[in-house]
Amino acid sequence: MEVIVRPDREQAVSLVAEIILDRLRAKPEIVLGLATGRTMTRVYDLLAQSAVSFACVTTFNLDEYVGLSAEHPGSFARYMRDHLFEKVDIDPARAHLPDGAAADLRKAAHDFEELIKKAGGIDLQLLGIGENGHIGFNEPASALMSRTRDKTLTPTTRAQNAAFFCGDPNMVPPRALTMGIGTILDAKELILLATGEGKAGIVARAVEGPITASVSASALQLHPNCKVVLDEDAAGSLKFRDYYDFVFENEPEWAKYRR
Ligand code: F6R
Repeated sequence: MEVIVRPDREQAVSLVAEIILDRLRAKPEIVLGLATGRTMTRVYDLLAQSAVSFACVTTFNLDEYVGLSAEHPGSFARYMRDHLFEKVDIDPARAHLPDGAAADLRKAAHDFEELIKKAGGIDLQLLGIGENGHIGFNEPASALMSRTRDKTLTPTTRAQNAAFFCGDPNMVPPRALTMGIGTILDAKELILLATGEGKAGIVARAVEGPITASVSASALQLHPNCKVVLDEDAAGSLKFRDYYDFVFENEPEWAKYRR
């Protein structure tokens, strides 16, 4: 795991956008795993503003609420169209989200995993982190080897996402179809982006704490190619900060991103 701390939110977000665009330029038919949420909106702004083509890109989103149609204003399908898909030249047939409106959720979950396999696996998976340490909607106590399935959301997560549902946590659907932690760990490269003071405690537990199902994001420590990009506020509780900065300042891989 590599931890990169940038001085502010905008610089953390642009570093993530730059890495994604570099991967896309190197492999125009890249398979991207995408996340939603407040942290990602600015990443998608920057991707949409770039001149890079998404024509050959395939995407798989981490999750979708159970019972919401793709047209619902709170759905992640709608979020993705508003923030990225309608602003770039992606082929909508290649942009996949779990089908939270499916009558048979087990089948929908199985089909989603099969589609990822058929696409050759995910090259680069983008991740945020929930206040309770979830990645995707893998709430605390999710199996570290879990695959795509439906999960019941915690009250914390429903409160965290209430802003997308008129501010009312009770309007946030109680369940979601989400990639499992095992599905996420299968991606060839992972980038987790977290910003803001509110994430500092959980980021420290995920990055420097023990690997435990109580903090789903701690499973990322097992992945051989995982980057955690933070702003100063989200990095506030890290113990090995000096070492992370030293690596970023000295590793040749990061030379072009140091500005
Ligand atoms: C979204 C997702 C979640 C979010 C996380 C952080 O598709 O899977 O894990 O990344 O809840 O959300 P924000 O960025 O709103 O704090």
